[in-house]
Amino acid sequence: MSPEPFDTSRPLAGNADTPAIPQRVLSGMRPTGKLHLGNYMGALYNWVRLQDERTPDGVARYNCFFFIADWHALTTDYADTAAIRDNTFEVAMDWLAAGLDPKQSVIFVQSHVRQHAELHVLLSMITPLGWLERVPTYKEQQENLATKDLSTYGFLGYPLLQAADILIYQADCVPVGQDQVAHVELTREVARRFNHYYSPEGAPLLPEPKALLTPSPKLPGTDGRKMSKSYGNTIQLTDPEPIVRQKLKTMVTDPARIRRTDPGDPDKCPVGDLHKVFSGRETLAKVYDGCTSASIGCIECKGWAADAIVNTLNPIQERRRIYENDPSLVVDILLDGKARATARAEQTMHQVRAALHLADDLADGLA
Ligand code: TRP
Ligand code: SF4
Repeated sequence: MSPEPFDTSRPLAGNADTPAIPQRVLSGMRPTGKLHLGNYMGALYNWVRLQDERTPDGVARYNCFFFIADWHALTTDYADTAAIRDNTFEVAMDWLAAGLDPKQSVIFVQSHVRQHAELHVLLSMITPLGWLERVPTYKEQQENLATKDLSTYGFLGYPLLQAADILIYQADCVPVGQDQVAHVELTREVARRFNHYYSPEGAPLLPEPKALLTPSPKLPGTDGRKMSKSYGNTIQLTDPEPIVRQKLKTMVTDPARIRRTDPGDPDKCPVGDLHKVFSGRETLAKVYDGCTSASIGCIECKGWAADAIVNTLNPIQERRRIYENDPSLVVDILLDGKARATARAEQTMHQVRAALHLADDLADGLA
């Protein structure tokens, strides 16, 4: 499978030529706590665009389900679960702040919809061990997170739990980053195998989802490495303006610009990368001209980058304040999401139980 390039200016075809509208979109994120600009640009920003996209006659093109993957967090962080609940709540607030709209999208917590676990156990019966052992993230993560004992059943099975997350909504599209494409591929293989065993000929119960590859612009953190919570180099969506400015001040620049009179190259500078993502055309031109001719200093340039980031964060922080002032709004949204997601998941599970000849409907049959 080659993942679709993600371009919301082009409609996505439902199949070869008839775009089925709305397409069902599903994606999830682990509750890592307060989100940073990298999480925003890498996922959330694109989710909001998908949610808001309309056809020329104003019909929503996507019916979106977004969930906080708290069970997934347990696959690596089972030894200390103390922060999960708070992290889940922070992520929910950041999502709403960023513009996910509970009127348009179903926003929920994975562990609220127990059907994910039920489908996971059924899929585990038909999934060969080798398929899971071969998922590239399996060995990689075990090596990267060497301080954690990840030789657990849950960690091996985590891509299958992800498959259940997706298939239970019979999703058409799954917006993910490059690192998750292999998981969507596994999902397709598992769906195919399930359908082979249990679906009537020609009517696949679990459709194979497509990965929608989210463009993720290069977003360096303050030390020039990729922005990541584990590097401690992030700008958070909740950082107030003075903190953003302070973080920019300490940010590394093009190493060739040692003195103010040395010309630099924004393409070799992490601050230049931030400008490319957040600044407008005019500022960007000033940065290129000023940097390569040494007519501006890095301090000035960083100030402009901070301006652009603050402008991006302002409306997000304003919206977040509404939810911070009344957290019960968030609770209500998540409970409503739970009800809507459960209803949809239960619809699939009803068909799945019947397809497996489980005694789900025994009571109906005897009545
Ligand atoms: N595994 C994903 C991540 O670590 C999160 C996730 C869980 C997910 N279930 C999903 C993403 C289903 C897309 C669809 O980022
Ligand atoms: Fe980087 Fe701007 Fe300094 Fe050039 S002027 S090196 S782009 S911070």
